[in-house]
Amino acid sequence: MNAAAIQPYTLLDDEDCEARILKAREALGDRLVILGHHYQRDEVFRHANFTGDSLKLSRQAASSKADYIVFCGVHFMAEVADILSRPEQTAILPDMSAGCSMADMADLQNVERAWAELSEVLDAEAGITPVTYINSAADLKAFCGEHGGIVCTSTNARNVLEWSFSQKDKVLFFPDQHLGRNTGYRMGIPLDEMVVWDYDKPLGGLTPEQIEKAKIILWKGFCSVHQMFQPEQIDNFKQKYPETKVIAHPESPFEVCQKSDYIGSTEYIIKTIRDAEPNTRWLVATELNLVNRLHEQYKHEGKNVHFMSPNVCMCSTMFRIDPQHLAWVLENLVEGNVVNPIHVPADVAEQAKIALDRMLEVSP
Ligand code: 13P
Ligand code: SF4
Repeated sequence: MNAAAIQPYTLLDDEDCEARILKAREALGDRLVILGHHYQRDEVFRHANFTGDSLKLSRQAASSKADYIVFCGVHFMAEVADILSRPEQTAILPDMSAGCSMADMADLQNVERAWAELSEVLDAEAGITPVTYINSAADLKAFCGEHGGIVCTSTNARNVLEWSFSQKDKVLFFPDQHLGRNTGYRMGIPLDEMVVWDYDKPLGGLTPEQIEKAKIILWKGFCSVHQMFQPEQIDNFKQKYPETKVIAHPESPFEVCQKSDYIGSTEYIIKTIRDAEPNTRWLVATELNLVNRLHEQYKHEGKNVHFMSPNVCMCSTMFRIDPQHLAWVLENLVEGNVVNPIHVPADVAEQAKIALDRMLEVSP
């Protein structure tokens, strides 16, 4: 059967899509599971069977029995779902252009070059554990699988770094420098033992001495959404509301995390605010859709949840998953057409799974 094209769906309003999504979900029953990341817009988020952070959704994908895993999130998440699910299941990303700009900051060519250059200074295989944040392409996870390395998420970064240092002396951490630095520092690693590898420069812009001294070599990548949060925003807000509790995602800059009372993944942020005393005020450094949802959810308890930045910081790629694309993929599934399947090549998936399984083993 020919798949229906997206174009007519783009003309539908959200209400039409809502009705169509509900009807298609009913028709597909247990054959379908929809996973939704916390940064999804509400019109999509409410259709998820399971919501969560990257770790929780990876586990859901690994344990799901559904034929179709529709991932309302970004490309690397759907890749992980494909890798961790069984071969007869299909992971689907409603809009293929939903990538992650941070994940794009590290590619296999640059990482292999970094590894080769590091090998000129020291024995990289014997001395460095490569660690990739889950926000990365499948071939980088495979690189870690092949080189005794591991994947991490914002929930388990500390457990993963502890495991990594139990294997080798040093860590090469990509692509998010902030998650690496914030986690390393909280483990007691001084800032001058965490150097930044600039992938546009020979030897990462570092001297052999700097590399030899470093415990963590941080890739020069960042999340453009969390990069917008600044320590002055905390100071300004606290001048008006000194009682405020500050909570930040560890993709935020070091100075912001240093000024925060709590640091953790999206799931951690949700639980912390959910379990907080009524009538408390929160300043939150993470994506806007999640912060707005928390505000709405807990305002009846007198909890005031504020977004840290005066500017709008939405993840534009998460936002690409809209009700129109969701209705499109689901109605096609009802007709027996799989649109936007994510298939990681078998050789890449095999190595990437090694690194993902290591992560799942050490995760809390
Ligand atoms: P978590 O939901 O795992 O905390 O990650 C946030 C994120 O940036 C996803 O891309
Ligand atoms: Fe990537 Fe940042 Fe968007 Fe997360 S919030 S998907 S890290 S761009």
